[in-house]
Amino acid sequence: MADSTLGAYNIEDLRRMAKKRLPRGIFEYVDRGAEDEIALRNNREAYQALKIKNRVLIDVSNRSTETEIFGRKITMPFGISPTASAGLVCEGGEVGLARAAARMGVPCTAATSSLTPMEEIYEAAGGNLWFQLYMWTDRDLTATFVKRIRDTGFETMLVTVDSSASPNREYNHRNGFAMPLRYSATLIAQILANPGWCCRVLAPQYLKRGPFRKANNPPELASKLTQAEVESEYTKPASQSWDDIRRIRDMWPGNLLVKGLQSAEDAAIAAELGLQGVVLSNHGGRYLDSAPAPLQVVAETRSAVGPDFKIIIDSGARRGADIVKALAVGADMVMSGRPTLYGSAVAGEAGSYRALEIFRTEMDRVMAQLGINRVVEIGPHIFWNPPDWVFGGAKPQ
Ligand code: LAC
Repeated sequence: MADSTLGAYNIEDLRRMAKKRLPRGIFEYVDRGAEDEIALRNNREAYQALKIKNRVLIDVSNRSTETEIFGRKITMPFGISPTASAGLVCEGGEVGLARAAARMGVPCTAATSSLTPMEEIYEAAGGNLWFQLYMWTDRDLTATFVKRIRDTGFETMLVTVDSSASPNREYNHRNGFAMPLRYSATLIAQILANPGWCCRVLAPQYLKRGPFRKANNPPELASKLTQAEVESEYTKPASQSWDDIRRIRDMWPGNLLVKGLQSAEDAAIAAELGLQGVVLSNHGGRYLDSAPAPLQVVAETRSAVGPDFKIIIDSGARRGADIVKALAVGADMVMSGRPTLYGSAVAGEAGSYRALEIFRTEMDRVMAQLGINRVVEIGPHIFWNPPDWVFGGAKPQ
């Protein structure tokens, strides 16, 4: 029987393996951040700096990582973040991600910019599938698209709201990779030097589906990854406002969250508008390089929105202990995009599943070491010498 660990014992193993299997420009597109990558590093350092105390001689033989969100049971408080590039690391990669999540019993978020159509992902994977929306300023286009998402069967939608300006990723100027995709000489050289990727991803893509496309785009928008101009006319992300969210709220019957905010003030507006929650995120360190880690702003956000409004965080979780820490500062669930993408590059669905399995086993082990049997028992008491931000600035005396 094949080794189900794939030889990967942690997320970093999957990352290293993915690096070998992808052309450099594509790996860096997945892996790197913006500008000096301060946010990218800080997302990890914020988790790593928090120390948690073990508790001993507590019966933890019946512990469980299971919890629930929006009325559905989940195997652990973790979900797959939306990413645009799964189809670039593995042919039909989005389906594999969603299937792995369904098998593990956790949510997976299909992305507007995915290279596989939402209907195909929904049909092939089922499970607890969420949808990520990049809204367009053109009202009719957005209304038709939201109806399509609803008709497909999605119940939970995250609207990404942090793209008022395109991000500054200087390494892309050097590594030959850009979105919209350009087959530059540098990228072509990297592709030719990686015949494995050509056989696994590029050739089947062209044979089955033709050129890489944003498969969900309505006909009014350019869909080939190599085009962009038409899209910007309709999207105008810089002019979007809370009014656009109000409009979407009025046409969306399911759970609605905004993703990509980092301040308690913005989360309070989302709560006032009647949304179900927010995804605190610095887009994996890919946009504003001086942003705090989402982990660092959970507690102050919780103080602003109260106990019932859902706070999900993404950006930086790589260990099961990180999920425990995020919940201890007040988050309801953690999301992450890169770990399962690395897994997808390594072995498609099996690789994505392996990433999820690593998170689950690590979380389970840490719960045992902390003497915790149930997810609801996780709280700030687990920390040793926590910084003020763990309490949202109001450290108990
Ligand atoms: C990015 C967009 C696609 O981070 O979400 O590149």
